[in-house]
Amino acid sequence: MTETKLNAPLPKQPPIGPGASGLAAMEVLLTRSSNNMLMDPAPDGSYLDLILQAASRAPDHERLRPWRFVLIRGAAREAFIKLLREASLARDPEFPPAKLNKLERLGQTPLIIALGTDLKDSPFPENEQELSVAAAAMNMLNAVHALGYAGKWVTGANSHDPAVHAALGFHAPNRILGFLLIGTARMALPEHERPVPADYAVEWLGPEETRALD
Ligand SMILES: Cc1cc2nc3c(=O)[nH]c(=O)nc-3n(C[C@H](O)[C@H](O)[C@H](O)COP(=O)(O)O)c2cc1C
Repeated sequence: MTETKLNAPLPKQPPIGPGASGLAAMEVLLTRSSNNMLMDPAPDGSYLDLILQAASRAPDHERLRPWRFVLIRGAAREAFIKLLREASLARDPEFPPAKLNKLERLGQTPLIIALGTDLKDSPFPENEQELSVAAAAMNMLNAVHALGYAGKWVTGANSHDPAVHAALGFHAPNRILGFLLIGTARMALPEHERPVPADYAVEWLGPEETRALD
């Protein structure tokens, strides 16, 4: 068996046949980066459907479908920003105006997807269902990139606020795990350095014995 070089560059000439599409998929995975400098258009119609379908490929212990996504776009964004503004001021009446202005900019995001849970009864730890939501979110971010759009996962105090959760239809124990900001990249942002696999992966050889990867 040939050993896979984890940090090997993609071959210059993709193999013909199914291998070519596999390498194209790897190209998508290895070129995605977050971008919140967004403008219209957002994906809609069949493209948006593909992005949401990608979520359904997330690992999901016992097929619980523990995901709930709430899309916010068009005119509803104004009501959403009002909600965030009111929630921010309710938590802190002295909420800085500069931060409120930042919320206004969020209102220009073409498409926002609230990432939340739809928890089901399960004998397994509840956080497994939240992990499945996170995996679904990652699939959506990759699908967004694969289709030529851009996005970023953000959180912040409003994403943890039960008043915001309730207004978007998430009632305890369900909650929001973040928001995906999605649209067309206004500009390419400078790429930041990525760690190499040897920085975060080791081979296990036995208790308390690991080996660094080449
Ligand atoms: C759960 C979660 C919450 C995040 N919240 C924020 C946030 O509120 N603001 C922010 O600038 N980045 C946030 N990030 C990080 C960005 O989504 C993004 O990963 C980061 O800017 C690095 O860019 P990259 O995805 O190209 O590596 C969050 C990431 C995760 C996974």
